[in-house]
Amino acid sequence: MTSEIVDLADPAFQSDPHPVYADWRRAGPVRRALLPGGTEGWVVTRYEDARRALTDPRLSKRASGNGSGGSRTAGQAPAGATPPEIGAAISRHMLAVDPPDHTRLRRLVSAAFTARRIEALRPRIERITTDLLDAMEGGERADLIDAFAFPLPIQVICELLGIPSDDRDDFREWSNAVVAGSAAGDRLAPSLKAMVTYIQALLADRRTHGGDDLLSGLVQVRDEDDRLTEQELSSMVFLLLVAGHETTVNLIANGTWLLLADRARWDALRADLSLLPTAIEEFLRYEGPIETSTYRIATEDLEIGGTPIRAGDPVLIGLLSANRDPDRFPGADDLVLDRAQNPHLAFGHGIHYCLGAPLARLEAQIAFTALLTRFPGMRLAVPADSIPWRPGLLLHGLSSLPVCL
Ligand code: HEM
Repeated sequence: MTSEIVDLADPAFQSDPHPVYADWRRAGPVRRALLPGGTEGWVVTRYEDARRALTDPRLSKRASGNGSGGSRTAGQAPAGATPPEIGAAISRHMLAVDPPDHTRLRRLVSAAFTARRIEALRPRIERITTDLLDAMEGGERADLIDAFAFPLPIQVICELLGIPSDDRDDFREWSNAVVAGSAAGDRLAPSLKAMVTYIQALLADRRTHGGDDLLSGLVQVRDEDDRLTEQELSSMVFLLLVAGHETTVNLIANGTWLLLADRARWDALRADLSLLPTAIEEFLRYEGPIETSTYRIATEDLEIGGTPIRAGDPVLIGLLSANRDPDRFPGADDLVLDRAQNPHLAFGHGIHYCLGAPLARLEAQIAFTALLTRFPGMRLAVPADSIPWRPGLLLHGLSSLPVCL
């Protein structure tokens, strides 16, 4: 273990971060690191500190004035790569602001994400799942991400928002680039611009041809009460699209990969589907879809686990690291499908706790049930450890998942 500054964008780190995180947790509560975009900041390594940090109002989403964090997008694209008019149209969302703005913005869409409203989507999600699996039936091999894990959540979020299916492939390309952030290189700026142009056109359309979808509802709030600014409106749509696109895909793909990497797990779940709810929580803990929280900025000098953090310092909370902390999870490096106590931080904690958690859980429940019953003999088409993880710091997901059906 050395004390040198670690480059979080280093592909070697990203290909297998768990042993590195284990070293960091042993060495201290926070780790100094080079963040994507070139600034230095801190990563919180241990569970209890991570949980506390996620509710600490002194760790703010407000731009720090040095441009190093608060204005970043949900995908943590470096602010410098984004033209100002584009940045303004995507950065005024709930995950980028503190109360009271956060409270106001979150309240406006919360009603659409209650457990009851989400449960009502079940038949639709089951239909989409069946259609996708029907299309795979008869083939011998497939990339399970392309054929299933990616299109399922995308179709669900697009339906929730009322986005036409013809436009969904474009969205995949743009949103991949957006969450990859600096790793997307030249693709980032044009992708952001295309996405914002699309969102603005969509909102203009809902203004004239409103329906009863979530987007039309948000437009009305904007127009009637003036409680949402135009920038807040486009930013909200941007956040929901990116969050809805890029996370659940990893829950489905990482979970399937974990099951197929050790056949006994796949068979155990097939034999007893009632294990699924705890198994899904364990996938979230063990190989969670999100590696670190989004940025916080210290608004004053403070301490994390006894280490001084200076006002203005960017802080990331290491969700993947916290979820493998052996002081909180006995046998933290073992995947336990029926783990009883599992207060993982994969959905975050505190006021920014994931709004889409009930939706993600429902999609996963439906997806795994369908996969296990429709393709009982499914296996990996390549050695489990030969599949690379996607670049980028925010997300933790496989780049492909080749399977034999
Ligand atoms: C397995 C899938 C998902 C995971 C692991 C996940 C994880 C997270 C995490 C860790 C945060 C907090 C980030 C932070 O504090 O920096 C968050 C926030 C959020 N997520 Fe998710 N998410 C998932 C799916 C979704 C879906 C499907 C949606 C919407 C359709 C969604 C919408 C949101 C929103 C709007 C926020 C911001 C909440 C706020 O700032 O108050 N998420 N998510």
